[in-house]
Amino acid sequence: MPGDTGDPGEVGEVGETPGGGAAASRVAGDPPTDPMRRALARAATARRRSAPNPWVGCVIVGPDGVVVGEGATAVPGGPHAEIEALREAGERARGATAYVTLEPCAHRGRTGPCAGALVDAGIARVVSALEDPDPRVAGRGHGWLRAEGVEVDVGVGAGEAADLLAPYLHQRRTGRAFAVLKTAASLDGRTAAADGSSRWITGPDARADAHALRADSQAVVVGSGTALADRPSLTVRDLPGGADDPGPPARPALRVVLDARGRVPAEGPLSDTGIAPTLVVTTEAGDARRLDEWRAAGATVEVAPPGPGGVGVDPAEVLALLARDHGVVQALVEGGARLHGSLLTAGLADRLVAYVAPLVLGERGRAVFGVPGPDSIEAARPLRLLSVVPLGRDVRLDLEPDSREHPDGPPRPGREEAA
Ligand SMILES: NC(=O)c1ccc[n+]([C@@H]2O[C@H](COP(=O)([O-])OP(=O)(O)OC[C@H]3O[C@@H](n4cnc5c(N)ncnc54)[C@H](OP(=O)(O)O)[C@@H]3O)[C@@H](O)[C@H]2O)c1
Repeated sequence: MPGDTGDPGEVGEVGETPGGGAAASRVAGDPPTDPMRRALARAATARRRSAPNPWVGCVIVGPDGVVVGEGATAVPGGPHAEIEALREAGERARGATAYVTLEPCAHRGRTGPCAGALVDAGIARVVSALEDPDPRVAGRGHGWLRAEGVEVDVGVGAGEAADLLAPYLHQRRTGRAFAVLKTAASLDGRTAAADGSSRWITGPDARADAHALRADSQAVVVGSGTALADRPSLTVRDLPGGADDPGPPARPALRVVLDARGRVPAEGPLSDTGIAPTLVVTTEAGDARRLDEWRAAGATVEVAPPGPGGVGVDPAEVLALLARDHGVVQALVEGGARLHGSLLTAGLADRLVAYVAPLVLGERGRAVFGVPGPDSIEAARPLRLLSVVPLGRDVRLDLEPDSREHPDGPPRPGREEAA
């Protein structure tokens, strides 16, 4: 699975892998051919460096079926996958087929348009997995190629490419960062024991996997309750390693504290902006003196409207400002219960990653989601299970909101199918 990071462990029957990949693709398309599979694998290597640009792979195959060039998106401002592959191919690109995991760009950003470069290099055919929803591209790349006489096939490996690029596709379609809610809880859904202690509920394998999730994210978000109680550092530390792990991110993730009233003092690891940047999102009601202390520590402070019912900061606005002003494609929300609850209630949880530990903490422990919950099973909104992965003594579950009303109700198309 191209988007995967971390140690997959033994794969359960429902799904496949940790690290952001979904088990079964929800996008229709043709299965990937070998060169497209290779391009997808290359794309996965760029995941931790390309944001806010998409992580894309390109493989160029000559008329004799031999691979003559391949590439993946570099850091922002660096060459896109197609340019890297064309450079490697040189003259051998003439009359060749380019396999790309996303529509080549048609606009001049910090680099030139890739569609034009493919034409100039003499590429005869482009096999593309997906159209790019970015409004600056949105079919123009494919259109450019066709207008110049290049044969274009779209949809090969579409499902795999959409799974790999799910956060990017969501961010470009909605203007909001893709919110992944991470929980670590006991078998009975408790994140902390009666005395509030929560370290370490899960074992080392699950914790290393959670660091891979951080590495795949451009922001790690917590509520003020967690910032006050845990004084977390929210940095990437013990990655699982291994052949499939793309390694540390090119830039440390933005650490984000949602603190509507400015209750969190500028102390501890989050105030050390030398190790990673920190953003405090507050409201007009935020304590000005405390927020100045954050600014003095080198953190950025942004003001957002209050959340629904006046609770906290507006979570939709937070996800929008992360995408718009901070280039965040995927935001990993690490709790606590109240923040998780408000995102879930607002329908803003795009993916849930639940690490379940073989412990029972009982009814005096704290619940994972700070929500009152539905009155009946009929009123409960099901989540759709994407994958189950054992990680040492723990289990990782990947889920997403389901469009069905009830587990026993009639199935409806998934989000991507309906799009
Ligand atoms: N085991 C785990 O996985 C895990 C993970 C994280 C935390 N924890 C534990 O959870 C406890 C903290 O949980 P918590 O529920 O009190 O803290 P939380 O969810 O981190 O913080 C809640 C506070 O965040 C602020 N906030 C800002 N915007 C919000 C929004 N849109 N929705 C909800 N809250 C928003 C609110 O305070 P203001 O209105 O003042 O801004 C709110 O009271 C700690 O004991 C921590 O150790 C466990």
